[in-house]
Amino acid sequence: LALPVTDEALAARLRDRLVVVEEALAGHVRTGAPFVNETASHLMEAGGKRFRPLLVLLAAEAGDQPEAAEVVTAACVVELTHLASLYHDDVMDEADLRRGAVTAHSRWGNHVAILTGDFLFSKSSELTAELGPDAVRIQAQTFTRLVQGQILETVAPGPGEDPLAHYLEVVAGKTGSLIATSAQYGARFGGASREVEQALTAYGEIVGAAFQLSDDILDIASDSGESGKTPGTDLREGVPTLPVLMARASTDPADARLHELLDGDLTDDDRHAEALDLLRKHPALDEARAYVVGQAQEAKQQLAPVPAGPVRDALEAFADIVAVRSA
Ligand code: FPP
Ligand code: MG
Ligand code: MG
Repeated sequence: LALPVTDEALAARLRDRLVVVEEALAGHVRTGAPFVNETASHLMEAGGKRFRPLLVLLAAEAGDQPEAAEVVTAACVVELTHLASLYHDDVMDEADLRRGAVTAHSRWGNHVAILTGDFLFSKSSELTAELGPDAVRIQAQTFTRLVQGQILETVAPGPGEDPLAHYLEVVAGKTGSLIATSAQYGARFGGASREVEQALTAYGEIVGAAFQLSDDILDIASDSGESGKTPGTDLREGVPTLPVLMARASTDPADARLHELLDGDLTDDDRHAEALDLLRKHPALDEARAYVVGQAQEAKQQLAPVPAGPVRDALEAFADIVAVRSA
């Protein structure tokens, strides 16, 4: 992820801080057991955007002590939590590729992948304890929301419930929650006022949802060279995504074939390829993109309590790149 920062001094500071976070992260997955080291560092070393740590660091800049040691700890907490959730997610989604690398369960089987996720989550919990009881409470609430979002994803919308509303609830839980917490930790441990902390939490929540919706669009629109994942994975697994829900809501008779495919078995390779092809040409893709751009605007509107200057500019740019990201 390119740093969306035009102010040179701020960009240099963030780059330095990201290096510190990276070293700390590597240290947190080092144990006395070589096999655990290998499984726990697998995904971290495969790459990744460090989106959540970057947001912690950036939000900390809105306070008067962005260099506080707790900020780095918090950046590690959110990345380890995120990594943990990905080990579990790839088991559930039966994904074979992440960050351009073979997924942990494909390499070592489900047991190792799930336990490594648990291990990373435990590490993240140990670190959270260093941040004090408020952070522990925030972390526990975040975990509740992550898991609840993930559980909701496995069930259809309730009777009479709008599928899009159901889906947005899933997204808020499984992604918005941890990204909101990233912004909140940054503001809090960076020494921002309560008002700024609240504004940044609201901002993170919306940016987080937009981030997931962009991911949805990439599942359809990008190739694996770009995204490091197998395209159409959500589609194959029947995980609803924004463009698919929007295409499904269309009443255009020309969409009859697409609807038929979407309602049928998408684990069939030919049907999957045909559906992916039709979706890539479908106006729903642009409709979904426009929705995400609108969410980025909405996120930026939360930033009013952050004083104007390079940090607010960077937070605004950060929301913008989420809406147009390609990986
Ligand atoms: C990726 O979504 C998954 C998440 C953002 C959250 C997953 C949450 C859990 C598994 C529960 C929490 C578990 C722990 C241990 C913290 P996706 O499958 O839509 O995205 P992808 O394309 O990146 O796979
Ligand atoms: Mg997945
Ligand atoms: Mg998933």
